[in-house]
Amino acid sequence: MVAPLDYSKLEHQICSRGFAEVDFALESSYMDFAAQSWLAFLTLPEDTKKQFFINNAFEGVSDSIVGYVKSERKLDEKTGHPIGSTDNKEYFHFNRIAINELSTLALADDRALKFFANATNIYMEAEKTHKRIMLAFDQEFPGLYDRFFSAKVPELYLRFLKYDFDGSDRPIAMPHYDKGAFTLALAESTPGLRLHYEGCDGNFDTTYVQKHPRAALAFPGFQFQGVTEGSFLPTAHDVVPLSSQEGAGVRWSIVCFADYGNLDPVPYQAIHFDDDSPLGKHLASIPNWEN
Ligand SMILES: [Fe+2]
Repeated sequence: MVAPLDYSKLEHQICSRGFAEVDFALESSYMDFAAQSWLAFLTLPEDTKKQFFINNAFEGVSDSIVGYVKSERKLDEKTGHPIGSTDNKEYFHFNRIAINELSTLALADDRALKFFANATNIYMEAEKTHKRIMLAFDQEFPGLYDRFFSAKVPELYLRFLKYDFDGSDRPIAMPHYDKGAFTLALAESTPGLRLHYEGCDGNFDTTYVQKHPRAALAFPGFQFQGVTEGSFLPTAHDVVPLSSQEGAGVRWSIVCFADYGNLDPVPYQAIHFDDDSPLGKHLASIPNWEN
């Protein structure tokens, strides 16, 4: 059994800045190395990559995708504005199902094999970190841990993401809440993740997050409000790379989502917000923000 984190410390950090910083066992240099193996995996032929795919991987949970996905930029037919992420992206959802079901496939190519080896290492540490966080919250909200980890396979998704970034300062991921319970931000190629949250004082605030080496950022998603009886609001976020540092090119990130598969599905509207909402107004007030 892993040791829980300190609940009051987590609670204070999330309330005052929208996220908590928690220890993570793997060095930043290793995370960079693993990300390079992810980018190498992406050089495999498209037909090969597409074989790494399991739809509805979690029983009874529709759209629970494990494996490789390529998604193209989508534009709203009426307004011509981008919907969701504004750039083309590729991602991979890795977890125990991927290890069990897709590892044999990965044996066929060295790039896939190396990526799977690194992804397995990171997944095991991410699962441990989620356990420590949920054990801490379980002290205050009994049953929260078991409800998640009593599942035959806990619904965790270690996501490796790669965007093609055009170098402008517009968001490459539009503001949203994550639909699950908790998200761990483990590594990104350069700073760009912004968190928007209602602080302890009831005012909205925004932070560009930077973390220490061997640490992960943890922030609540939409489901967490329900499982904590309204005690924690979800933290909204978007990605606006600091273009002066980054320029055009490739951006990667590694995150791990914890979703309660046994709760009602979260509609798209619930995790995006109108310009008229308090959070929408806050976003409009941030310099550099373009609607
Ligand atoms: Fe997100």
